[in-house]
Amino acid sequence: MLSNEELEQAAKDWWYYTVELSPGMVVQGAYPPDFPYMPRILMRQAHLQKQDCLDLGTMEGVIPVLMNRKGANRVLAVDAVPHCTQKMDWLKKAYNANWDFREVGLMYDLDQKLANEGSFDYVNLSGVLYHVFSPMHTLACIRPLVKKNGLFMISTNVVNEQSDVMHFNTAGKLQTEPNTFWYPSIPLLEYMLRYFNFAPIDCLYSRHPSDSALFVPGKECGFISIVCRAVDRGNALPANDNWARHSMLSSWEYMGLSPQQHGMDQPVSTIGYDVPEVLQAQVAQKGSIDLYLAVNEYGRRIIRATRAQDTYLLRLGDES
Ligand SMILES: C[S@@+](CC[C@H](N)C(=O)[O-])C[C@H]1O[C@@H](n2cnc3c(N)ncnc32)[C@H](O)[C@@H]1O
Repeated sequence: MLSNEELEQAAKDWWYYTVELSPGMVVQGAYPPDFPYMPRILMRQAHLQKQDCLDLGTMEGVIPVLMNRKGANRVLAVDAVPHCTQKMDWLKKAYNANWDFREVGLMYDLDQKLANEGSFDYVNLSGVLYHVFSPMHTLACIRPLVKKNGLFMISTNVVNEQSDVMHFNTAGKLQTEPNTFWYPSIPLLEYMLRYFNFAPIDCLYSRHPSDSALFVPGKECGFISIVCRAVDRGNALPANDNWARHSMLSSWEYMGLSPQQHGMDQPVSTIGYDVPEVLQAQVAQKGSIDLYLAVNEYGRRIIRATRAQDTYLLRLGDES
């Protein structure tokens, strides 16, 4: 429980998430009440009990609270700077939750910066990839942190089109936020994930609606959350993609930035994930899904959230 003094202080602070800090006392965050929090929705399908979890770019620590609620063994949260330390402490206290925090600077070379932390069954990178100059550099250094067969969840802005193109935020045309650079097309993001040995098994997409500040006329932009399995080298790629296999083994960038272990002694995760029924056949047959089809033909979309537990609102109680 937070003291009255702490609650008064918290009420004056700026909040990213909307959080109930004591029964009936809610601090207002940045998102409208029906805005879906897709990483939260998808993470509900992951069997986090007794698993080691890592949250990258954690802000106030709502994902770590939810990881705690789902019975995680260990939760590590990191951020570029310690801008939410006080708020994280309040959340830990209010929710009787626990996690470690590390300040890691820019989201590059995380495998080196977290070299003493071991590897993880579940890693979340949400709302970060569009903030970095080099999305591939960031993905490359995360893959060594995920155990074989572990899960990686990534959420970022994309363009919903069939291309292998990444759109740049030239003159703020995608959004005026000054830390925002790249929106890949959905197929290109999928290709990058596969190149780093992440096989997508579920996703959820939300088109930026026409009344949103993120709406871009003439281009269908949206936010996608993707759950991937970490697989052995090359196993997420089509059998005929010799270029990628060659590149993984011989490009200086891959070898220097993504030192993955694929031997017998690599840690192996047993983490489960409930794939939605509509995607089960694809995952059973191919081990992964086509993200563009999942979004555009299999209905893995959401626009507004109809339940509070699917939004950026964290309430006391036991909602995951
Ligand atoms: C949009 S918030 C997303 C918060 C949270 N992961 C979520 O999805 O709800 C972006 C997070 O990325 C972190 N971050 C890391 N590198 C960043 C960068 N280069 N520019 C801006 N934010 C960055 C911020 O500190 C913040 O925690």
